[in-house]
Amino acid sequence: MTHAFVQLELLEEGRIARVQIVRPEALNALNAQVLSELKDVFEHVAGLESVRAVILTGTDRAFIAGADIKAMEEMSPEEALAFGELGHATTHAIASCPAPVIAALNGFALGGGLEVAISCDLIYASDKARVGLPEVGLGLIPGFGGTQRLQRLIGVQAARELTFTGRHVKGQEIADLGVALAVVPHAELAEHVLGVARAIAERGPVAVRTAKRVLEAGRDVSLAEGLRGELGAFQDLFAHDEAHEGMLAFIQKRTPSWS
Ligand code: CAA
Repeated sequence: MTHAFVQLELLEEGRIARVQIVRPEALNALNAQVLSELKDVFEHVAGLESVRAVILTGTDRAFIAGADIKAMEEMSPEEALAFGELGHATTHAIASCPAPVIAALNGFALGGGLEVAISCDLIYASDKARVGLPEVGLGLIPGFGGTQRLQRLIGVQAARELTFTGRHVKGQEIADLGVALAVVPHAELAEHVLGVARAIAERGPVAVRTAKRVLEAGRDVSLAEGLRGELGAFQDLFAHDEAHEGMLAFIQKRTPSWS
């Protein structure tokens, strides 16, 4: 599939998908076309059985510098609603991708860019990254899920502070706040996330997808309901060849061979 602003590469015999946003002249800002392409690519990747982990990254200085301010400035409230809905549909396509999605924040991840990042499963940042929700400085609020997802990820008070001040966070503070799992030297970011993707890709693919689904399903429900979901999924895996292969390989002291 070819798109103007979003590139999909399949690595390591199709086990790892690398999605790159390429609109460097606007620091990868999200207009409706970029959002549609991103959604389209993730919906496509969701259908690829071979894909066990996905890496999402940007170009040069930016992961994504936010929603396209020049495009938004001309929008009526009705057009803004449609644009926000497209942003929600896009972040939903990322969050509901069956394989884990790793965001590699190579540079600016601001506004809608941070909102895309926090719809991923894991986030790693380069020491050149700058993250934040600067929308209130534009007279706006985060519109692609930031008011809801960030407080679930880093806690209510920290999310409020970032949202109300709009400040840019950099360096180790990105990890200290819990936005990213780790901040790594810029030149090592690509290799670092590839290593994480490889580690995931080596595990039982059905188990990893099941774990993602159960973790996600349990986030906004009661503990009792979440535990019921876990139990059902745990049971289901015993009906699958993969679990038998994984356990037998352990007992026979060999590497499992996933079909
Ligand atoms: N929308 C549109 N264009 C953008 C953009 C954005 N979000 N961010 C950067 N650009 C464009 C700039 O306009 C500039 O284009 P021109 O050369 O044609 O003027 C080009 O990218 C390079 O940017 P700068 O010259 O500004 O680069 P810099 O290094 O001086 O600054 C920056 C970098 C600090 C990221 C700065 O560009 C910036 O503050 N960008 C906006 C960040 C922002 O506010 N993001 C939130 C957007 S609102 C949102 O996302 C709403 C939502 O939740 C849905």
